[in-house]
Amino acid sequence: MSFNVAIDGPAGAGKSTIAKLVAKELNFIYVDTGAMYRAIALFLLNKGISKDDEKAIADVCGEIDIEIKHADGLQQVWLNGQDVSAEIRREAVGNMASATSVYSCVREKLLSLQRDIAATQDVIMDGRDIGTCILPNAQAKIYLTASVSTRAKRRYQELCEKGVSCDLEEIKKDIEDRDYRDMHREISPLKQAEDAVLVDSSDMTIEQVVERIVEICREKK
Ligand code: DC
Repeated sequence: MSFNVAIDGPAGAGKSTIAKLVAKELNFIYVDTGAMYRAIALFLLNKGISKDDEKAIADVCGEIDIEIKHADGLQQVWLNGQDVSAEIRREAVGNMASATSVYSCVREKLLSLQRDIAATQDVIMDGRDIGTCILPNAQAKIYLTASVSTRAKRRYQELCEKGVSCDLEEIKKDIEDRDYRDMHREISPLKQAEDAVLVDSSDMTIEQVVERIVEICREKK
């Protein structure tokens, strides 16, 4: 049987950075489920479909083909035969993903894709509903969070390093809005699973968080 690790938490908590490093340490495959929601969002943006038009979104869901590939341990996301791994990182795509992930047609489309990947391989999967909905029987569950101001500062730094001009207060507001939407939607809202271990990374270094999570996983093995 495969060993599954679920990491859930709000935007900007460092899930993907941490999960990639933990995956390397444990020799697991890292699966970023947010990237799948982002790929759907990109498709909808390209089609000019409004985030509020659930009917139009449900109508085109069947046209969307998402594939997850791994090269050198890194995940690639392919949308209808095209590698969109870089394009889906845009802020606009993230916001669209948050807005459209509330719809059942979108969530149902990705549910089996995510479960199938985890059924046959040792994975560390990150998202919002992995421990609560996608992999309720995951052997290890972590809820990774950090304060809003810490997450905003980290994002601000990341964008500055990339040479993207940005405003800290705007980023903070974006994070708060995204948290609210992700935590208050009707289907599979972001919340800590009862059996998940809470890790607050606000005052921890990346190395400390990785060490803590690897330790939690090894305890469960
Ligand atoms: O992790 P991320 O920022 O790339 O995710 C983008 C959006 O996708 C997030 O705001 C909510 C949605 N999402 C979700 O609803 N369920 C998941 N398992 C992962 C992401």
